[in-house]
Amino acid sequence: MPDPRPPPAYVRTPTAAFLSSLAVDRSLARVDLAGSVVHAEMLGRANLVTPDEAKALTDGLRAVAAEVADGRFAWRDDLEDVHTNVEVRLTELVGAVGGKLHTARSRNDQIALDERLYLREAVASVASRLAKLEGSLLARASVSTAVPMPGYTHLQRAQPVTVAHYLLAHFWRFDRDLDRLFATEGRANVSPLGAGALAGSTLPIDPTYVAARLGFDRAFENSLDAVSDRDPLVELLFDLALLAVHASGFAEEVVVFASKEFGFIERTPALGGGSSLMPQKCNPDAAELVRAKAGGAIGDLVTLLAVLKGLPLAYDRDLQEDKAPVLRAVATLSSVLDTVDVLVRTLAFDPGRVAEAAADPELYATDLAERLVAGGVPFREAHEAVGSFYRSAGGAPATEALRVAAANLPRAGDDASVRAALDLRGSPGGPAPLAVAHQLSLARSRLAARTTSLSSLDRKVRRIGEILDGERT
Ligand code: ARG
Repeated sequence: MPDPRPPPAYVRTPTAAFLSSLAVDRSLARVDLAGSVVHAEMLGRANLVTPDEAKALTDGLRAVAAEVADGRFAWRDDLEDVHTNVEVRLTELVGAVGGKLHTARSRNDQIALDERLYLREAVASVASRLAKLEGSLLARASVSTAVPMPGYTHLQRAQPVTVAHYLLAHFWRFDRDLDRLFATEGRANVSPLGAGALAGSTLPIDPTYVAARLGFDRAFENSLDAVSDRDPLVELLFDLALLAVHASGFAEEVVVFASKEFGFIERTPALGGGSSLMPQKCNPDAAELVRAKAGGAIGDLVTLLAVLKGLPLAYDRDLQEDKAPVLRAVATLSSVLDTVDVLVRTLAFDPGRVAEAAADPELYATDLAERLVAGGVPFREAHEAVGSFYRSAGGAPATEALRVAAANLPRAGDDASVRAALDLRGSPGGPAPLAVAHQLSLARSRLAARTTSLSSLDRKVRRIGEILDGERT
């Protein structure tokens, strides 16, 4: 049944359905309403509406927010977008004064504001998932500093590390992702409201009030830039794409380590499901999907860059296509991070298999060469001598020094010999348990600092709820 109330003139066109963004931007309703409440407050302070009108507008907007929150709001497809839906409903609730809300405002600066507020919430939500994952990596690492495992280059056994050192490598790269997200939010923390359609207003508006009340550092410097700037969304998508790439690398290791060929981790139910045909199968589906989701996240970044490429200042309708990739990527990464966290918490290393692999003499070829180097042999010479010793597979060592060093190499079944070799890898940032203990303490204080940043971001996010609840801050 078509709605009997006609839509406002600006949305009456035969292409209305094509122009509509409601399906996507209705998820921004909450931040849109908070922005409108503050805009109405500003109109009151600037005497652009009377105090009574300002109160009618803010009360009405809060009533609309309550309808949206509990699902009573009747969304109208014929009204193009979230902004128009809200304004039309507001006017139904408060009467003609509702028509004053859009004074000195355009949907161009309005949507730009909504996106900044959304970005803040999205960063807070992804960042808290990342911090949780970092905590899980730390917890697993702190109990595995003495569990040796092979380290790989070219996916070939290379040199020994420990499970803790391996898990912490993932900690640090996820931590850089977290840092990037915070930095993106920091740069995005500028309010565009008051830029109007593109050139501000002839009325005495106060963008600074709006910015401060919504928790922004400041208001925009240039109205043309303010309505067209989507850099924060591009940065967010890049951060998420790289995060997804990092998660996919970890997932690939889980897939490989869970194969019978490696057998480093047990195929627990948390890794995924079985096969509908092959009764023996227990597949690492969850890790495989994490690996695949990176494709979508990269695609979302490319989509937005392609939408933006070549756009003239200031607002172009193309910009409406910016939201779907962002919302999609945020949802993707939220589920990816939750899944990676489950994987990290439940990974069951097979200590026997890992220990056996870590005792592989090949892993200690460099150690052998370095022992010769410590005795004064030039590295190139040592490299050559050890290389031919390994190639001769059990042949006699070329020199007495090599024989002595080789006799001290780790042996399969002798865990103490492996541990002794690991203790020697104590260079800064290396895998020796002592070095890893130091690394763990650095990681712990890093995570503590991140938790503090997260709390101050959460405080900013809570402002939206406070504004909608009618609290003064
Ligand atoms: N739905 C639009 C968007 O997402 C809102 C801004 C519309 N502005 C306009 N001039 N038609 O970008």
